[in-house]
Amino acid sequence: MASLFRLKRIVAEEDRPESHRLQRTLSWPHLVALGVGAIVGTGILTLIGVGADRAGPAVILSFVVAGAICACAALAYAEMATMIPASGSAYTYSYVVLGEIVAWVIGWSLLAEYTLVVGTVAVGWSGYATPFLTGMGVPGMLTHGPQMDGWQVVQWGVNVPALFVVWLVAGLLILGTRESATLNAILVVVKLIALAVFVAVALPYFNNANLEPFAPFGFAKHMSADGVERGVMAAAAIIFFAFYGFDAISTAAEEAKNPGRDLAIGIVGSMVVCVAIYMIVAIAAVGALHYSRFADSPEPLALILREIGRPGVAAFLAGSAIIALPTVILAFLYGQSRIFFVMARDHLLPAELATVSRRGTPVRITIFTASVVSFFAAFFPIDQIAALANAGTLTAFAAVGICMLVMRRRAPDAVRPFRAPAVWLVGLGAAFGCLYLFISLPHQTQLLFGAWNLIGLLLYFGWARRNADKVAM
Ligand code: ALA
Repeated sequence: MASLFRLKRIVAEEDRPESHRLQRTLSWPHLVALGVGAIVGTGILTLIGVGADRAGPAVILSFVVAGAICACAALAYAEMATMIPASGSAYTYSYVVLGEIVAWVIGWSLLAEYTLVVGTVAVGWSGYATPFLTGMGVPGMLTHGPQMDGWQVVQWGVNVPALFVVWLVAGLLILGTRESATLNAILVVVKLIALAVFVAVALPYFNNANLEPFAPFGFAKHMSADGVERGVMAAAAIIFFAFYGFDAISTAAEEAKNPGRDLAIGIVGSMVVCVAIYMIVAIAAVGALHYSRFADSPEPLALILREIGRPGVAAFLAGSAIIALPTVILAFLYGQSRIFFVMARDHLLPAELATVSRRGTPVRITIFTASVVSFFAAFFPIDQIAALANAGTLTAFAAVGICMLVMRRRAPDAVRPFRAPAVWLVGLGAAFGCLYLFISLPHQTQLLFGAWNLIGLLLYFGWARRNADKVAM
């Protein structure tokens, strides 16, 4: 029983065998770029359309709610990441603070999060690439997954562009982290320019009439007549996807040159930049075109630009998305391999999968993850994959809020290079905010996430726990 709640001791870097050490090559500009690269993506470019479908123009409020909760989580992350600057993110904090079984559930949730984020972004990328491909004569059934009506397949299809982008980025990552971090920084700039151009072009078309009715589906999640769960909170639970990614920075803790300072700047800095950008983009989008005309579009921002008569700018935005969205895939595939690496180092996952190649990259786990992601990217609709990714992330964020509060009580005088302000408000805001967003997710997502964790616990009690026991003895 005791082993269920055994706490992890952080092993000093110099006490670790060479093969278990990662190289310290990243400084804070890399980390801010990694953060912004991981945050700005399919959430703002594509899921804003899904959000508008679920909440109407009040999707702006959904951005505010999800952003506030994510800001609390980011502050808690910054405190924990600088206090425990070890790879593994929320998984490691839970292992140090709350014990092995909680850490397992969080690690297992993170594996779902990172895998499904990659799938969601790949499908979002495909949404922007498809108009170009269709123009080149590629048939529709090769540009999207099967189209469903409930459980009924209306039209078969395979999302080939989504598959392509997953394997492209996986290949890049296998070639080496450092080169990838530099390329990432360049692509982040492309993405930010595209959003700035969108705002500059769309904002002058702002029309109050487009905001009517402002909240046609009310606030709390409820089932609407067509069988879709709607409301400002239902949209917030999806839009939440747009805000995270800063957590990917904390998975690079063992590769940061000066983790105490750099991680806090990276996490809080990238979050602040992104919240500001999103609010302006969301206001420009719903103000320029009535939400009913871009709701659920696979490329809503480009559609808005075309509808207001700026097709050239729309093509520029789509082109930028195609070039730059892979940065999100890169950051999450990278984070995923690091979580896997640390869980295997703790003997909770098979060590063979996490071995690092001569180039310093975990080849096997990257290939394994890309294979799993391919399945989701090829056959699932974006809103379902995103909702499931959010379920995993919300669980991890709530745990980090709780870890921060527990540590403030348990070790009030421990060294904290970064201290979150208004700690109770921030910690409880993260924990209860995430819980409320989780409740606002579609019911089907909650069930699927429950099933995923059940499988995880069977694996834990059937294999992982005993394996970790052997090492602990
Ligand atoms: N926040 C990231 C995105 O929106 C995951 O793509």
